[in-house]
Amino acid sequence: MIDPWSSAIVDYENLIEQFGIKPFSDLLPDVKDPPILMKRGIIFGQRDYGRILKAIREKSEFAVVTGMMPSGKMHIGHKMIVDQLIWYQKQGADIFIPIADMESYSARNIDFEESRELAINEYLTNYIALGLDIKKKNTHIYLQSENETVQNLAYLLGRRVNLNEMKAIYGFSGSTNLSHLYVPLIQVADILHPQLEEFGGPKPIVVPVGPDQDPHIRLTRDIAERFKTKYQFIAPSSTYHRFITGLTGDKMSSSKPKTAIFLSDSPEVAAKKIKSAKTGGRESLDDQKRLGGLPEDCVVYEMLLYHLIKSEDELKDIFNNCKNGTTMCGECKIQAAELLKKFFVDLSKRRIVAETEARKILSKD
Ligand code: TRP
Ligand code: SF4
Repeated sequence: MIDPWSSAIVDYENLIEQFGIKPFSDLLPDVKDPPILMKRGIIFGQRDYGRILKAIREKSEFAVVTGMMPSGKMHIGHKMIVDQLIWYQKQGADIFIPIADMESYSARNIDFEESRELAINEYLTNYIALGLDIKKKNTHIYLQSENETVQNLAYLLGRRVNLNEMKAIYGFSGSTNLSHLYVPLIQVADILHPQLEEFGGPKPIVVPVGPDQDPHIRLTRDIAERFKTKYQFIAPSSTYHRFITGLTGDKMSSSKPKTAIFLSDSPEVAAKKIKSAKTGGRESLDDQKRLGGLPEDCVVYEMLLYHLIKSEDELKDIFNNCKNGTTMCGECKIQAAELLKKFFVDLSKRRIVAETEARKILSKD
């Protein structure tokens, strides 16, 4: 069982075997101009993604839904979602970004006002600063607590889901609060509501998420089938990305500040943090020269791979020079820190304008 509200480390291989997620690599050759996250295997899994590729190819309507639960500060790992949204915007997708304040209230005890502030100061500000065009036509951003269409759909869909099923999927028990029990239905409605008549009717939907969200995807696909006659729902597709490793070698998590580079960090702090990250380097310089480093086991390399190096050739050189003992971790860290600093200088400038824009969209009236 996967619990979306705990931060257990996920075994990616097992997901593919146990839950029927398909490897993304099978479809990669069919993707035109794939983004870095696809090319480099960071997006590793998918369900029914062929349907999305077909819509892109034929320029027919499709939508992307991916939400965020406001629970803390945004870290650099979260940038992956924004990178994907930007790519899908270019492919002509309708974009839906639910802000999961109902989930945050039920699962984290954060009230709606606090969620709104977090959504403005952290999430939306960073989404805009990272390059998402939130004013683009057919881009929808909403708070769950203010979206009656979603709430009503969740209620209607709940008619064909029972308690035993929720217990089996999520491990809910007798002590689960009733608001929390309702959270998955809201998320199912987030994902399915773009197929309602008022949004243009049935269409392919893709949900790009981390594998911790897969229980929601499975539930949504089942429910879509149960309501097929009524709404002609097409089962949503999904993709799954790997999580970025934290600075300490554990999962990067906002609730463990030592593991995270926050998007609101100053350029200097961000650079300092990457310099102190766990590497795949050897005990001594001699060993490093003789045996080479382990980039596949290195937080610094991962930062270059996920975010900082755009060119495939350059990345390959970095990998090889680490492996064959040419590069030492010290110089490598300096290079990464410089790139990161540049990125953060730019981001912190953009955040200033972005925040005003974010506030306009989400402020109460
Ligand atoms: N549950 C997601 C999270 O924890 C947020 C979310 C809400 C979501 N609705 C969604 C994700 C719809 C994908 C699709 O961050
Ligand atoms: Fe990581 Fe660079 Fe050291 Fe290789 S040389 S282990 S990539 S920090």
